[in-house]
Amino acid sequence: MIHQKFNSLLKTKWLGQNLCYEECVDSTNKVAKQLGVKNAPNGLVVLAEEQNAGKGRLGRGWFSPKGKGLWFSVLFRPKFVPEEAPKCTLMAAAAVAKAINKICGVDAKIKWPNDILLNNKKLVGILSEMNAEYGKLNFVVIGIGINTNVDKSDFPDDVKDIAISLHTEATKEFGRELLLAEILQELEIKIEQAEKEGFENIFQEWRQMTCTLNKDVKVIAQDETYFGRAIDIDAGGMLIVERKDGKRVKVVAGDVSIRSVN
Ligand code: BTN
Repeated sequence: MIHQKFNSLLKTKWLGQNLCYEECVDSTNKVAKQLGVKNAPNGLVVLAEEQNAGKGRLGRGWFSPKGKGLWFSVLFRPKFVPEEAPKCTLMAAAAVAKAINKICGVDAKIKWPNDILLNNKKLVGILSEMNAEYGKLNFVVIGIGINTNVDKSDFPDDVKDIAISLHTEATKEFGRELLLAEILQELEIKIEQAEKEGFENIFQEWRQMTCTLNKDVKVIAQDETYFGRAIDIDAGGMLIVERKDGKRVKVVAGDVSIRSVN
């Protein structure tokens, strides 16, 4: 990452204006959370060339080889109540998908709640965490991992067939600096929008970019697995699934894995 280039491209007011840039960390989410409890400023971004213990959802890892992706976490201190924090996950997905499509000339889609897929393969993973107490949200950390230059042969065996990288798919030339600057700008706009008017318009944008709705899905929860059709998301960002018997259930992000079955 070329610092000067990034600084000159960054058009935000506060998001990313403080950048903690490291060659190698265990996990940028972990570093951001540590800095968060030490009063790190609103809008801090932690970016690393490499992570040796990148964290994924549901206790999984995240492959983050040196210089081959954008591995970063943003920390912000929004005016929401803690119950609203999960909505930030969908908001981040909408911001990242929009920025990638614009800068790279691709048609990436969001798989509920916040994976970004290209040609049905995983391009981006997003891991949101928060620090809250007694009804007060201290900060949210959103970790974003984008495979920009990971070669197919680099990916570990277990993700080789389900992961994809931008460099083979982009129809426009782009640098990591430009992509990061665009994502941060899009995210800043959305955070301010959510604080001012709530999440409904952001969710509307999310709906336009998702590949999950109106599809048959398999929901793998901790204690049961079932099939149904993904109908919509509700005002909280939960997925509404109509089961085979016609009963509608709400699926909470974080506890489940969903698979498209068509
Ligand atoms: C997923 O399982 O899909 C979420 C993956 C999130 C990976 C990113 S990379 C930057 C940040 N730091 C981490 O340790 N994880 C997130």
